[in-house]
Amino acid sequence: MKIFIKDIAQFKGKKVTLCGWIFNFRSSGGIYFLQIRDGSGFIQAVVDRSKVEKKTWEICQKISLETSAVIEGKVSQHPTKKEIFEIQVEKIKIIQIADRYPLGKKSHGPEFLLDHRHLWLRSKRQWAIQKIRYTLIKATYQWLTNHYFIKIDAPILTPIACEGTTTLFGLKYFDLGKAYLSQSGQLYLEAAIFAHNRVFDFGPVFRAEKSKTRRHLTEFWMMDAEMAFVEHQENMKFQEKLIVYLVKEVLKNNQKELEILERDIEPLKKIKPPFPRITYQEAIEKLKKKGVKIKYGDDFGGDEETILSQLYDRPLFIEKYPAKLKAFYMKPDPKDKKLVLNDDLLAPEGYGEIIGGSQREEDYQNLLKRLKENNLSPKEFQWYLDLRKYGSVPHSGFGYGLERIVAWLCGLKHVREAIPFPRLLNRLRP
Ligand code: 4AD
Ligand code: MG
Repeated sequence: MKIFIKDIAQFKGKKVTLCGWIFNFRSSGGIYFLQIRDGSGFIQAVVDRSKVEKKTWEICQKISLETSAVIEGKVSQHPTKKEIFEIQVEKIKIIQIADRYPLGKKSHGPEFLLDHRHLWLRSKRQWAIQKIRYTLIKATYQWLTNHYFIKIDAPILTPIACEGTTTLFGLKYFDLGKAYLSQSGQLYLEAAIFAHNRVFDFGPVFRAEKSKTRRHLTEFWMMDAEMAFVEHQENMKFQEKLIVYLVKEVLKNNQKELEILERDIEPLKKIKPPFPRITYQEAIEKLKKKGVKIKYGDDFGGDEETILSQLYDRPLFIEKYPAKLKAFYMKPDPKDKKLVLNDDLLAPEGYGEIIGGSQREEDYQNLLKRLKENNLSPKEFQWYLDLRKYGSVPHSGFGYGLERIVAWLCGLKHVREAIPFPRLLNRLRP
């Protein structure tokens, strides 16, 4: 019977067929040990010369790294470690003998690995990272659906900027002038809340970031959530609950993957509400105390984020930034109009910003003023302004960067490993 390695425990003592790849092998006298991978898991297959046909033993001699094969054998349990199963091979059918595999057993530099990303994805570590990424995607859909959100697919080609004009990828759009690759679906979600109340999008977004840091990709996956009748404080509650849920789901479903990644899970077990909240001003003071040369009005760079996110063992909300540092759509704080009702959520252990959110300006005239201050064309944004004319309501939302969360939970040094095919300032291939 053809089965997946993941289900092996159900077939103890039975004869099964596995379809996969041989990612490692060694022989010792009359025995061949084959390490098999089928996408669902990993297992050792044992070929005993005295128990198989001569033909099968000969096939073993031909096997190279990454050879694809169909393997038949009996499932046996490790005599002492009960959770470990093996296959006692009876028959092997080779599908393809692999050419000399460039990603051998020796260690390679990051550029070499990235050049071979199409093959590197097969490694155990990369396999584990993508499994965890998928848990996060699934759990995000689940949590949002359970909280009455529906998914609204925002366009990727747009004539306007959502997050500032300095990081836009532009292209010529037939006779209609310039178009840009979306930086975030937020503005379109704001239109959809008037139909659906709570909505989200989840897709690729683009930033022509000139920054070459461990946190920046030029194409990454963002989940934007937007909610009608929700103000700043409640917005942060939503973010907190979602993140707590995501961490819990990964701890529950990805023990094996976290082990492969040698991720210390103790810090992850501490991710419980409430998350600490400090203001931008308090963050500046904390940084100054740490000896960082920074003054009120400066934005936080990667180094500052690292320091701040090492201060607590939970994610940290930093709220109420100076309006000047933030996007045009954020609503000013009624207590101090120079500030906005926004929050950045920083992951602990030095990982930095994973979420950016805010309450949105819902008043037509104020928004018009903010557009002009930001040198954005009120004409292009007329549809967005319209939303403030027909039943405008207080509303808020946030966006998370999937790769940033994957990097944090997997304990990765760089976000480039968190996405299957990273796009970076200096990398477009493969
Ligand atoms: O903070 P950002 O720019 O917020 C927005 O785009 C809002 N429109 C979201 C909203 O309110 N709906 O981006 C959101 C998140 C960041 O917190 C970060 O996690 C991630 O997207 N991010 C990046 N991830 C990888 N590479 C980059 N260059 C990123 N820029 C932002
Ligand atoms: Mg941000």
